[in-house]
Amino acid sequence: MSTLITNIGELTTNVAADGDPCGTLHDAAVLIQGDRIVWVGTAADAEALGLGRIPSAGAHASRPDGGIAPQTRDHGGIAPRTPDDMAPEVEIVDAGGRAVLPGFVDSHTHLVFGGDRADEFEARMSGTPYAAGGIRRTVAATRAASDDELRRRLHGFVAEARAQGTTTLEIKTGYGLTVADEERLVRLAAEVTSEVTFLGAHVVPAEYAHRRDEYVELVCGPMLDACAPHARWVDVFCETGAFMPDESRRILAAGIARGLEARVHGNQLGHGDGVRIAAALGAASVDHCTYLTDDDVAALAASDTVATLLPGVEFSTRQPYPDARRLLDAGVAVALASDCNPGSSFTSSMPLMIALAVREMGMTPAEAVWAATAGGARALRRGDIGAIAPGMRADLVLLDAPTRVHLAYRPGVPLVRSVWKDGSLERPADR
Ligand code: NIG
Ligand code: FE
Repeated sequence: MSTLITNIGELTTNVAADGDPCGTLHDAAVLIQGDRIVWVGTAADAEALGLGRIPSAGAHASRPDGGIAPQTRDHGGIAPRTPDDMAPEVEIVDAGGRAVLPGFVDSHTHLVFGGDRADEFEARMSGTPYAAGGIRRTVAATRAASDDELRRRLHGFVAEARAQGTTTLEIKTGYGLTVADEERLVRLAAEVTSEVTFLGAHVVPAEYAHRRDEYVELVCGPMLDACAPHARWVDVFCETGAFMPDESRRILAAGIARGLEARVHGNQLGHGDGVRIAAALGAASVDHCTYLTDDDVAALAASDTVATLLPGVEFSTRQPYPDARRLLDAGVAVALASDCNPGSSFTSSMPLMIALAVREMGMTPAEAVWAATAGGARALRRGDIGAIAPGMRADLVLLDAPTRVHLAYRPGVPLVRSVWKDGSLERPADR
């Protein structure tokens, strides 16, 4: 099956051109075959090449409201980059002048957990500060939950994110903190994504409170042994109240030695060594980056490590927002992610992250959209997502808006009209 999305008013390709990192095209079209994008160009070229021409008998089959009309037609062999064995059936989607962009890449979530912490949020809104220790409450609720219960909620969160345009999710463990529970969480996460992160070093669990060295040993040994086969990444919460710099280095090194790639939670609650540890280890990403010194910024700029900003956390904890402008001006690659978790940011909405980044962090709408798509792909070291170009995965979002700017301009409005994941259409709202 192939799909031609045409009459796209604004297409964000993220293939940089003429000083525009978003590679914006107008009056554009995209051809999808199977799970990949095979052609991108103007709607006029698609028409001229016969990709979008509708036989007169089917002239009304393409609906200007963005609806879909199955078409059966012959390409006549003139479509470039179209393999000979291309199925003759083409679905034509008339975007009606609306905006299309790559699906959001949410490169930082904690979606496998039991319970919630609404009471903690409520107390925080009355002045109680956020502290890492709340994680232990979710650990207790997660340990008490059955696999089926965790799975049901996990699938619910994935569906919730997808309806808001997220087509790739990274998911961390970190609410089990025993060998058996972390293995349970890593297996569950692997059921829904290939971007699974082992975060046994989320916090020292209560039963090890006075034996933290033993817990670090456990994480680096039997827990890593049990989880590494199901994970791609190793992460550590490097922060006062969680793991100290030396412990963090040790845990990351153990994960790397087991073939995992590193990412770090750093500089969330105060100045610390997380950013410099991440840059020195060549981590793919250091996440939070709220409190940075000039040396931290310089270390990031000189590295391949992406700074992943998580504005849902500052929104939900009343912390100061990270200064994205400072990072961008220094040449640091910036990603945006939700950090969806029950403690510091219980939202899966990437459009909300874009709106917050623009309003509160000094990003332009184009920078924020890039960071939520191509930036997330870079933070996951993925070359097959985050852009709309031939050969990329067909992960796209059609907005109910003429431009991506509306994602920040109309905060809180469900603008995601259609989502394609690996070439398959999902329509969150039949509007
Ligand atoms: O990324 N920073 C560490 N972990 C989460 C918070 C988890 C929790 O509070 O349950 C975060 O903000
Ligand atoms: Fe996190």
